[in-house]
Amino acid sequence: MKILVSGGAGYIGSHVALELSRQGFEPVILDNLSKGHRQAVRAGKLIEGNMGDGQLVREILAREKIEIAVHLSAFSLVGESVREPAKYFQNNIANSLSLLDSMVACGVKKFVFSSTAAVYGEPETVPITEDHPKRPQNPYGFSKLAYEGILEAYDRAYGLKYISLRYFNAAGADVEVEIGEDHQPESHLIPIILQTALGLRKSLELYGTDYTTPDGTCIRDYIHVSDLARAHLLAIEALKQGTESKIFNLGNGQGYSNRQVIETAQRVTGAKIDIKESPRRPGDPAVLVASADRIKAELGWSPKYPQLEEIIASAWRWHKKHPHGYNS
Ligand SMILES: NC(=O)c1ccc[n+]([C@@H]2O[C@H](COP(=O)([O-])OP(=O)(O)OC[C@H]3O[C@@H](n4cnc5c(N)ncnc54)[C@H](O)[C@@H]3O)[C@@H](O)[C@H]2O)c1
Repeated sequence: MKILVSGGAGYIGSHVALELSRQGFEPVILDNLSKGHRQAVRAGKLIEGNMGDGQLVREILAREKIEIAVHLSAFSLVGESVREPAKYFQNNIANSLSLLDSMVACGVKKFVFSSTAAVYGEPETVPITEDHPKRPQNPYGFSKLAYEGILEAYDRAYGLKYISLRYFNAAGADVEVEIGEDHQPESHLIPIILQTALGLRKSLELYGTDYTTPDGTCIRDYIHVSDLARAHLLAIEALKQGTESKIFNLGNGQGYSNRQVIETAQRVTGAKIDIKESPRRPGDPAVLVASADRIKAELGWSPKYPQLEEIIASAWRWHKKHPHGYNS
């Protein structure tokens, strides 16, 4: 069965495409390489193009006989979304809507969507369940929540069935195939720590040390990118079996503070990480931890790599071999 993977040359999408091919699916990757990397495509074929190009997408859907689509293509830098909201609404809403319209026009009505913990904003209760109030604090989170609303309306009107996966913090790298995280610019904590361990950065900027958490730093929920990718397989199976549309959190349900992540990375790498303590960044919640009970109960998902140490070790193997990412 052929699956369209929009954004499949990106960090998470390349791991999703790999898992799909491991399970016997044929991934067809659509990516405009605005952020992704040709070398990250290790399974399936890459078609270079914009998801907002309706003619191209309709051609691909018909020619390749696509039955299900996974939609990961988006911009996802929170700070940039605050400075340039139009860019985010254009890509994450308008281009993404065009992708959906192309699908409906071609009768492809099964869809997996990459949503985010950023739809919740500052949590009132932790761990965060899917029913927690949604109050995104930035245009990025808003764009993802708006798209979930679009999906709900398309289900009602056109019978589109979707599974929206609200990822918490994806990290790590495939343990067999050499693909990994290479965002430009990098904004995620673990790769930044590892770049510091490699001497590519002088020090690590630690934002906020006065949160009401045990060690004063933010707490986040890290999920291995391959565990995250495997959840897409379960979502696809559920859609194939005719499930109703559903929304799931995707995290490990365990939080680690920034200091704990740094200490673990020091243990894994054997390097001393120099830290520069800086003020809090606006809009960074103190604690973001998922309740993943729903996806465990309903799709039978369970993580293979729940330990932070193994998540960081897999990322470290990638970064050590590819200090400058795919251009190393
Ligand atoms: N990385 C995380 O921890 C995280 C957390 C929550 C949600 N997400 C979401 O997961 C998805 C994937 O994230 P990622 O970290 O792999 O990002 P990424 O930037 O590595 O991948 C996104 C890919 O989409 C492509 N793309 C963007 N706009 C496109 C367009 N108009 N047409 C075709 N291709 C386009 C980019 O070239 C890139 O390859 C995103 O939707 C992101 O919002 C990521």
